[in-house]
Amino acid sequence: MRLIRTKDYDEMSRRAAGLIAAQVIMKPTSVLGLATGSSPVGTYQNLIEWCHSGDVSFRNVKTVNLDEYVGLDAEHEQSYAKFMHVNLFDHIDIDPANTNIPDGMASQTEEECARYDALIQSLGGIDLQLLGLGPNGHIGFNEPEEIFEKGTHRVSLTQATIQANKRFFENEAAVPRYALTMGIRDIMQARRVVMVVSGAGKAEILKQAFFGPVTPSVPASILQFHPDFTLVADEEALKCL
Ligand code: F6R
Repeated sequence: MRLIRTKDYDEMSRRAAGLIAAQVIMKPTSVLGLATGSSPVGTYQNLIEWCHSGDVSFRNVKTVNLDEYVGLDAEHEQSYAKFMHVNLFDHIDIDPANTNIPDGMASQTEEECARYDALIQSLGGIDLQLLGLGPNGHIGFNEPEEIFEKGTHRVSLTQATIQANKRFFENEAAVPRYALTMGIRDIMQARRVVMVVSGAGKAEILKQAFFGPVTPSVPASILQFHPDFTLVADEEALKCL
């Protein structure tokens, strides 16, 4: 594991964006695995700026997102598809046809999960996967479990995740109870993994995930075994070390 310690969220975002931009400059046909949530928004803002200034182009990039809520269509304000358009895709030169997100409206979820795994394989796997860290140690929506789930699958969101995400919805009852998420195998097979973590609220779980035992009860801990994992975290998030 490589640790990049930053002063604050802005520096974290710049450093993570730098890693992604370098990946795309070195390999313009990169497959990027992308995340939603508060943590990567600043990273995306930097990428948008550098795309506008002509420093990086996403014309030949393909993307696969980690997850999507079950029951929200792509136009729903809180769907992850919408999030990606608002926070990144609509502002860079990517071809929308090259962006992929699990279909939360699929009637056959098992088939949708199999399709998504096959899609990742057909793209040649993920070159760089960007992650955030859930308050309970989840990555994607791989919630604390007794085993590490391997491929894309449907999950019941834990109460902790529903609580953490209700800030985006009208009330707690409006938060979807299920999601589709890439599995741990999909994430671990990415050639590089970059995680962004910011703020004191993540400090305790960051310590457990990366300086404690590897266990499916803290799903992010598996990243300790990844051969090319970079943690970009700010001082507040690192304060328990
Ligand atoms: C988002 C995702 C989640 C978030 C995590 C942290 O696509 O897969 O694992 O990365 O819940 O969320 P924030 O960044 O909002 O604290």
